[in-house]
Amino acid sequence: MTRRLLLPLPGAEAFAERLALAGGFELGDLATRRFPDGERYVRLGFNPAGREVDIVGELSRADDDRFLTLAFAADALRELGARQVGLIAPYLGYMRQDARFQPGEAITSRTFARLVSGLVDRLVTVDPHLHRFAALSELYTIPAVTLHAAPLIGDWIARDVEAPLVIGPDAESEQWASEVAARADAPFAVLSKQRFGDREVRIMLPDLAAFAGRQPVLIDDIASSGRTLVAASAALQGQGFAPPVCVVVHAIFGGDALARVTQAASRIVSTDTIAHPTNAISVSPLIADALAKATP
Ligand code: R5P
Repeated sequence: MTRRLLLPLPGAEAFAERLALAGGFELGDLATRRFPDGERYVRLGFNPAGREVDIVGELSRADDDRFLTLAFAADALRELGARQVGLIAPYLGYMRQDARFQPGEAITSRTFARLVSGLVDRLVTVDPHLHRFAALSELYTIPAVTLHAAPLIGDWIARDVEAPLVIGPDAESEQWASEVAARADAPFAVLSKQRFGDREVRIMLPDLAAFAGRQPVLIDDIASSGRTLVAASAALQGQGFAPPVCVVVHAIFGGDALARVTQAASRIVSTDTIAHPTNAISVSPLIADALAKATP
């Protein structure tokens, strides 16, 4: 049987290698450069005819021409006879602007989903930010597999943190904080958050005196500006807790976010859905397993 072929987008080569190793998949090669006028050139380094190919690349900062590279590669794969073209996007971007919060705003989650659904046959991703939409099927018209990093994070906490108290910084995080806590056999609490702008949040804490002396472990799906983790850390320390261990699935850490969170945390850990110096938990076995199940 021909093996599944993984085609990494620029920047995703190391992740695709780990995934290929975990699942026994073949790796394809994509040459890409810019023309003198700045436009993007893409060339497949293999013949995809009759193959099942999965393009691999996280889609953070996707407007930063990653999306066009994906589009060019997906079309080239199809035109040259690939039997099926999938997308493995360990981080799926444009999931947070999922409503029109202010008059006139574009609901970019919908547009992005429509564009991606037109390019590939199926999607595999890890912990997409599902808040106002309950499932990717409400946005994407292609089959979409949603994987969860919670068991891997729970195992990491059980191994590396003594007497943990798992904390979700806001109501949305309850879904993964509770699962992580169950897996780590630890208690958990959920805080509440009010957001006043891209970089302004306020965190409210319940009385956590019953957990005094435990090591707080803040769990969030995304660290972007880092303000959620910083505010939650300050609130926890205000109740006498030690600086938290911060664990995130998707380490975006834009601008000075990493420096801010570093000051507020005793340790920062992330999964490798986005390549980042804080990566300590690999989701490649999780994805490899899902792909193995999907392979006919
Ligand atoms: C919120 O809805 C998410 O779950 C994260 O809490 C949020 O995206 C983190 O953003 P930031 O790092 O900018 O506070």
